[in-house]
Amino acid sequence: MSLAVVILAAGSGTRMKSNKLKVLHKVAGKEMIRHVVDVANTLNPSRVIIIVPEKAQPIKDCLGDKVEYAVQKEQLGTAHALNQAAPLLSNFEGTVLVLYGDTPLIQSSSLKNMLDFHQEINVNTTVATAIMNDPFGYGRIIRNDSGIAAIVEEKDATDVEKEVTEANSGIYCFESAVLFEKLNRVKDDNEQAEYYLTDVISMLVNENALVEGFELDEEEIMGVNSRLELSVANSIMFERNAVKWFENGASVHDPFSTFIDSEVEIGVDSEILPFTFLKEKTVIGTGCVIGPFSQINDSTVGNNSEVNSSVLNKAIVGENCSVGPMSHLRPGTILKNNSKVGSYSEIKNSVIGENSKVPHLSYMGDAQIEENVNIGAGSITCNYDGRKKYKTHIKKGAFIGSDTMLVAPITIGENSFTGAGSVISHNVGDESLAIERNEQKNIKGYGKEKKEKK
Ligand code: UD1
Ligand code: CA
Repeated sequence: MSLAVVILAAGSGTRMKSNKLKVLHKVAGKEMIRHVVDVANTLNPSRVIIIVPEKAQPIKDCLGDKVEYAVQKEQLGTAHALNQAAPLLSNFEGTVLVLYGDTPLIQSSSLKNMLDFHQEINVNTTVATAIMNDPFGYGRIIRNDSGIAAIVEEKDATDVEKEVTEANSGIYCFESAVLFEKLNRVKDDNEQAEYYLTDVISMLVNENALVEGFELDEEEIMGVNSRLELSVANSIMFERNAVKWFENGASVHDPFSTFIDSEVEIGVDSEILPFTFLKEKTVIGTGCVIGPFSQINDSTVGNNSEVNSSVLNKAIVGENCSVGPMSHLRPGTILKNNSKVGSYSEIKNSVIGENSKVPHLSYMGDAQIEENVNIGAGSITCNYDGRKKYKTHIKKGAFIGSDTMLVAPITIGENSFTGAGSVISHNVGDESLAIERNEQKNIKGYGKEKKEKK
């Protein structure tokens, strides 16, 4: 069987009230259109064609060149949109599966079942429908004794037709041989003065072609037209993603307060605790404990590491590491195996070596920290002079005393020490102690004098 998938995505999406194209709004961290394209690709189609509006560069940037594009210059309706694929499919013979770019919850298994049905019964056209609790806004499936007779849009429906709860999903299997000839004949004599793809159905029925409905779950065919619907789609997708990881051997303690984006990977025996966001292409290894209260964006966490109440952004955490509570790992952070970043520490564009620790209240920016280093509480790399950023290099085994200011560029040698409270602005060689501190004065009787004055 030859299959072409055409995804309609040229609509303006005015109901979103957004400067962004509707199909580029994200559901669980992934653009709606990319959800649909990825599902389409699981069907092994020979062609995937996206109908896009004229200014479609953002869609092309999102989907790349693995799909074909056809431009719909004016948004004249769904039939007109699909017809823009006609030149690309002029030599194509087979089934044309129509999907919408704003229907991100559709699942591969459902489409596979629909295609099987379409072929087995050898119908001319299959329409995916759903019985809906509240079908408001959807086209209604009008049936007569011999099956589907027509699809009527909400705005064109009579009061009796509006009572029908079987709704049009906008997903169809057509045969290319008859489809394009019909599309050319669709008229725009309706309430919205649009060329409705749904009119093709009644045209086919009038010519005695076999048109069948294939019922899908209401949730899957939900079209996202507004921000409220976008939020509903997000909750459904987050719940699905949690269930997916249960099935793959990871634990999500409370799916309703845990938000796992669709492209995240989680290893077996990892536990994701509540109020945690795993975003974009984050990868969590096996046996990790993530959360509660963590936000991990586009980062990697190695096996058996833990991240508690922390924010990670484009960071790489090795195995057996401990992060948090209240740590902030910014882009370019690499924690080598068995390292630790503890409470209220911020790391940016720095490598923390194996077995090294930044346990409390520190800022390490543009630093290369080798293995077995301990950074005392409150120590800071002074990496910025207001104009440029400078590097700090701390060699293996060094012990940075509490509250050391490391004025970069600077190097601290192997197994060296800095005294607590020092401002270190000159390089320190190996096996040394650097201390920069005024002599302490103790003034006897000062306290007593104060008290008497009162
Ligand atoms: C459409 C169906 C309706 C169905 C509903 C399901 C028609 C006439 N109506 O209504 O029966 O219940 O979907 O969600 O088909 N698009 C274009 N170019 C256009 C117009 C639309 O590419 O000129 C694209 C949109 O980007 C969108 C899809 O087609 O992805 C559906 O368009 P939309 O305007 O949302 O249709 P609905 O009014 O929801
Ligand atoms: Ca829609």
